[in-house]
Amino acid sequence: MADTLTITDNRTGKQYDLPIKDGFIKATDLKQIKTETDDAGLATYDPAFMNTASCRSRITFIDGDKGILEYRGYPIEQLAEHSTFLETAYLIIFGELPTQAQLVEWTNQITFHTMLHENIKKLMEGFQYDAHPMGVFLSTVGACSAFYPDAKNIFDEQSRRKQTQRLIAKVPTIAAYAYRHSIGRPYNNPDNDLSFTGNFLNMLFRMTELKYKANPVLERALEVLFILHADHEQNCSTSAMRGIGSSHVDPYSAMAGAAAALYGPLHGGANEAVLRMLTEIGSVDNIPGFIKRVKMGEGRLMGFGHRVYKSYDPRAKIIKQTADAVFEVTGKNPLLDIALELERIALQDEYFVTRKLYPNVDFYSGLIYQAMGFPVAMFPVLFAIPRTAGWIAQWEEMLLDPEQKIARPKQVYIGSARRDYVSRDQRG
Ligand code: CMC
Repeated sequence: MADTLTITDNRTGKQYDLPIKDGFIKATDLKQIKTETDDAGLATYDPAFMNTASCRSRITFIDGDKGILEYRGYPIEQLAEHSTFLETAYLIIFGELPTQAQLVEWTNQITFHTMLHENIKKLMEGFQYDAHPMGVFLSTVGACSAFYPDAKNIFDEQSRRKQTQRLIAKVPTIAAYAYRHSIGRPYNNPDNDLSFTGNFLNMLFRMTELKYKANPVLERALEVLFILHADHEQNCSTSAMRGIGSSHVDPYSAMAGAAAALYGPLHGGANEAVLRMLTEIGSVDNIPGFIKRVKMGEGRLMGFGHRVYKSYDPRAKIIKQTADAVFEVTGKNPLLDIALELERIALQDEYFVTRKLYPNVDFYSGLIYQAMGFPVAMFPVLFAIPRTAGWIAQWEEMLLDPEQKIARPKQVYIGSARRDYVSRDQRG
């Protein structure tokens, strides 16, 4: 017998059998539950989508209680150990690990698209020197919509492939230019002999040397961080990408919105907020006082807690190991001791234990980025670069899913009942 949910409506005494598929009922199946033939039927109320699936997806699997994260079935731990960012991006977007030949072709395609149009550079020059790089990043991604009008052809597979290559290839260049602009240094052109992360570091940090060669440990650490951030199923920014994309706008416009969602301190801006928090705490002695204030509701312990993970975020575990390798090269980040002690205290504290609040991906990533020489304001941008792969994959899956339509949630209206307009002179 098929799984069903039987509902008795006490208002009418009627019974309904709703099919259960993959552990979900369809919200639209509730519409048949009515008291009058012409009422709109029953619906669900779910602010912040706490218990509602908005799509069926084949991309990323998370088991938040067990701390499992898989891209297309491959455990994140194995990808972080053996893969590269470009290979993982290919896996996320196309569904399978590439063959040798496919990887060579994919790498060439990405390499071919790393340059920015000179007018995009001019546009970026228009920002003030103190503009936040994430604001510059998301505006420039949006501006690409105007530079690549062919991106409108979203149902043309060739066009989607082209925009995919452009987006993955150009986001590091945009990010690096945003950084160079903020410190008043000339832009470095991409060096296509280098790896994806090696080239990114080149565009950020090359000075007068003819050829920039990043420290291989740091280049690999960035690769691992990029793999860890490449997708995370239906989070706030991905939902924004899907929601905006569902209006059939071009992917650059949709991604500008996704990047904007990522910018917020509760999402991709959290790594920046963690660093500012650790700096503000200043010393291990100040931790008990800080924890006390958090428990009294005066602010949050940034980098802790997650909507989905109710155990240790598997990405945070990998990042902690990566941090050790990076600090061997750069020297220890002095804020590490504060972070470790904060984690130790929080993991024993009843407030955090009962709420299942554990370190998330952002708790340690900022410490690594800072040790590598990135300014704090660049942290959300460093999240956006790899997440581009996930956004594109999720956008394309949404576009090709026959069950999807323009996203349009319902509301429960609680405002005034109908009333007549009162003329200005009668309003006192
Ligand atoms: N510090 C202190 N208390 C917290 C924290 C925190 N970081 N996170 C949640 N809580 C408390 C919260 O006050 C609530 O307590 P109560 O039940 O007494 O009201 C309870 O835990 C449940 O929290 P919630 O806000 O209902 O949980 P949520 O699923 O809506 O929020 C979250 C998830 C990530 C927004 C939240 O944990 C948070 O604000 N964390 C800090 C910001 C952060 O690190 N964000 C990065 C997320 S991982 C990277 C990414 O994917 O973006």
